[in-house]
Formats: sequence, C-alpha cells, structure tokens
Amino acid sequence: MEGVRRVTTQTFRQMKARGVPIAVLTAYDYTMARILDRAGVDALLVGDSASNVIAGHETTLPITLDQMIYHAQCVVRAVKRAFVIVDLPFGSYQGNSQEALVSTIRVMKEAGAHAVKIEGGRTAVRAIENISRSGIPVMGHLGLTPQSIYHFGTYKARGKNPEEAEQLREDALELQKAGCFAVVLEKIPASLAREISTSLMIPTIGIGAGNACDGQVLVTHDALGLSTDFNPRFVRRYANLTDVTTKAVENYVDNVRNRTFPSPEESY
Ligand code: KIV
Repeated sequence: MEGVRRVTTQTFRQMKARGVPIAVLTAYDYTMARILDRAGVDALLVGDSASNVIAGHETTLPITLDQMIYHAQCVVRAVKRAFVIVDLPFGSYQGNSQEALVSTIRVMKEAGAHAVKIEGGRTAVRAIENISRSGIPVMGHLGLTPQSIYHFGTYKARGKNPEEAEQLREDALELQKAGCFAVVLEKIPASLAREISTSLMIPTIGIGAGNACDGQVLVTHDALGLSTDFNPRFVRRYANLTDVTTKAVENYVDNVRNRTFPSPEESY
C-alpha cells in the first residue's frame, strides 16, 4: 500500500458532497484491521461492541477505557489508509465534559486514534463541544444507543413515534452544531434517517437505518458470520466464517489424530 492517501474528516465531507457512500466496519485487533484496511473500508470503528463480540459480555457497559485503548492500539498499528474512530466506553465521559476530554486525550495519545465516538443527543452536547474545541474529531451516535439499554429496557427500533422522531431530528442538529464530523444513526426508520441525512451538512452513518444514509456501518463479526446468535434484520452476512472455521478446525483435529499432520515436508 505504498503511497496510499489517508482518509480524513475532509474525505468524508467530500464523499457526502459527491454522494459517494462511506463504508465503515468495526475492528478490534491487528490481523482483522489489516485485512479490512486493505480491502478498502473507509473507516474502522473500534466499537465498544468489543464488550460483546470479543469479551462475551451481554451488554457494552462493562468494557473499560483501558481495554478500549488496548483494542485501539492493535487496530491503529495495522492501518495505512482507513480513519480510526474509537468509542468512548460507558463511564468514561458521562460525568462531565472535562472527564470526557481527559478520556479522549488518553485515547488519542495512547492509541494514536483519529477520532472518538460518543453516544447520546442533547445530553452529550457539552462533552462533544469540549472535545471538538480541543481539535479532536467527534462522531455522534443517535437512535438505539446500547450504553443506555437499562434506561430503554429494549433493543427495539427508536424514533417510531412522532415525539421520539422529532427529538432525534433536533438532537441530530444539536450534534452538528456542537462540532460532530459525522453521526451514527442506529436502528431508526429509513424515512426518518433519510430526512435527517438531508437536513445535515455532516455525513450520517447508518446501522439498521436504511440506505439513504451517507454511509453504512456493521459489526464485522456479524457481517462475516462469526456471531451467529445475533440476527437482527439489518445484518447482512457476507460470509459464514463460523462454518469455514469449524470445518477447517475439524479437519485439523482429524489430521492430528490420524498423524497425517505434520507430513515429512512439514517436518525438519
Ligand atoms: O460499538 C459498536 O460497534 C457501534 C456500532 C454498532 C455503531 O457503536
């Protein structure tokens, strides 16, 4: 990847202006991040979904800032082109806007990330303003915000009634005003996501929000068929790596048992 041009927040603005959709996937480790970067993904999100797909927790709440920084370091080391965004985990920014900035600075300094993502609408505005005023790009996240699962009590789609839809429209504008360079719209009606995407100057990145968003994001483990027990309608499986891996490993176990591995050519 000699001479590759790095993706920046300016690239995203230009892509929105030209109507070129932005492709985003999550990444948590060096090996996968290297593959995704080389395959042309524009941005890698070190999501707090690591709490689910890497650590096996039921929610995203337990993952810590130190753990997010570790994942981000692994991803940043692999990437030559993609823009790396890191989720601020639950408990690392809600206290006040100074706490949010201190956590962000740790992510930027210790991992070498390019931006952070924060969940929430008007409640997150102060934190977003403080971070973006310090010259650090912030991505917003509206709609289904998994860190608030115990407040909502369900992972159902958001913005389906007029009041909630209006709140999301207003929150999106607030996030733009606060300085976000982009905003994730998770699990909201496609018509509402289209409306919000048209009303904003900054790109929207959808997950379960229809195809009118300025870009799309999926959890890589879902897209590659590694997390088979999570089957919402918005996930498209681009591969079945659970099947591929299971067959390969069964074959390996078999070869070890019958002593066909290693062969003389694979021995010294
Ligand atoms: O943590 C994550 O993976 C996310 C995406 C689902 C947007 O926030």
